[in-house]
Amino acid sequence: MKTLNLTIEALSKKLYLNIAEAIKTAIKNGNVKPLEKLPSARLLAEQLDVNRHTIMAAYNELIAQGWVETKQRRGYTVASALPIYSAITNKKSTKTTTTQHKWRIIKPNEAKAQLPASHYQYNFAGGNPDINIFPFNEFRGYINDALNRPAIKDLNYGDNAGYPPFIKEVATYLRRVRSITDKEIIVVNGTQEALYLVAQVLLCQGDKVAVESLGYRPAWKAFENAGAKLIGIKQTAQGIDVEHLETMFKANEIRLLYLTPLHQYPTTTTLPVAERIKIYRLAQHYNIPIIEDDYDHEFHYDSQPLAPMAANDPSGLVIYLSSFSKLMFPGIRLGIIAIDKSLSSHIINYRTIINHKANVLLQDAVARWMKDGAFERHLRKATRIYQQRRQCMVNVLNGFKDEGYNIEFTIPPGGMALWVNVGENAQQISLLARNEGIFLLAENSFHLNHENDEDQYIRLGFSGQSEEKIQQGLALLKSLLNKIS
Ligand SMILES: Cc1ncc(COP(=O)(O)O)c(C=O)c1O
Repeated sequence: MKTLNLTIEALSKKLYLNIAEAIKTAIKNGNVKPLEKLPSARLLAEQLDVNRHTIMAAYNELIAQGWVETKQRRGYTVASALPIYSAITNKKSTKTTTTQHKWRIIKPNEAKAQLPASHYQYNFAGGNPDINIFPFNEFRGYINDALNRPAIKDLNYGDNAGYPPFIKEVATYLRRVRSITDKEIIVVNGTQEALYLVAQVLLCQGDKVAVESLGYRPAWKAFENAGAKLIGIKQTAQGIDVEHLETMFKANEIRLLYLTPLHQYPTTTTLPVAERIKIYRLAQHYNIPIIEDDYDHEFHYDSQPLAPMAANDPSGLVIYLSSFSKLMFPGIRLGIIAIDKSLSSHIINYRTIINHKANVLLQDAVARWMKDGAFERHLRKATRIYQQRRQCMVNVLNGFKDEGYNIEFTIPPGGMALWVNVGENAQQISLLARNEGIFLLAENSFHLNHENDEDQYIRLGFSGQSEEKIQQGLALLKSLLNKIS
């Protein structure tokens, strides 16, 4: 080829790269075709009035990128197979047109797009901490400290259970506050990761997992994703129906039991100690591990929090999960698995597939914060504030009752929400509330089997917003509630 029309744009400071880009565009546009000869370096240098070495540098760049080939003494040709990705040749014009790649999706996103609860003016989502009361200024000091005195050795690969000083602080805390003494601790990016890991390590296709029939859907998803089938256990006013649990244990080969015993999610009831012991004995008898999700145990107002099942676990079958999402905020992504030694290495090893190193910097900062006692100080403050908010919500709702509104509830001894019976139309109330800028969920969101939905309960979180907002939001909600006729 003698000449090649090129449009050279000043994309780079280096002339040879701009010439290479122009030649590439000519090839892409089909001005020169695969295997066709390109002008010699000398000719193109004359044409463009540049040094021959500049053209050779441009050709060498294109050879490296796979657009041009050269054979000894035979000059430069366009490469036989061009490195064009999603290109389909349009035969008529010899130009290229692109089409959207069609993915083969194995696990489609079935979630409906929804406005997050935090975008509503009044957010009654149960279980939200109030992030505004978190001591960010104080915590910044611990992050700075972790950066000023970095744990250089620990920042490198290794130690996938978590950052040892953080594990030590968590172990001390769990021993003192939750009486958990003989478990290994693994740090995870929140409870959800723990649920996923445990499900993957312990379950296979078709296994049965017993769950509370009103419960925590994200946990169910993790079990189902591992191929498990969910078996709903009936609930009583106090929590799990132990007789029904035993019947299900007898009738099915159940591989795992998932429970929220301290503050049942979503009904907020606390499973009495005697019932918990019965459940533990049954699990021992039928050889079924228990996941104990202790997601908000700190917030217990009327007495000291009850000890978890994991505190008295001679068979080592309790998989204890705790989260920093409520103690701090969900964005911290810190959770804890406390388990028997015989299981821990399997979980840690499996986790390396998705993440092979802990977030040491963050865990270092939180460890320093805990060690100084600042963590427990924040907890005491948050507990006091949430207790006042619980009282505020109870007062407002009692006022509604006095005015003749059909609502019933039991004051929960702890947790972050009230489970309120509104008589009927709970789902409609929750939907209409959104038009008023209020987020809340009705019982239909929590049922495993929708035929159990009696459409009577709504869940009202009290911890995540100020008393003023609780009062304003409930005042708006009042008009949607049913009056006793
Ligand atoms: C029952 C239950 N478990 C665990 C969690 C915490 O999950 P994560 O630690 O993944 O934020 C929540 C938070 O809403 C919850 O309601």
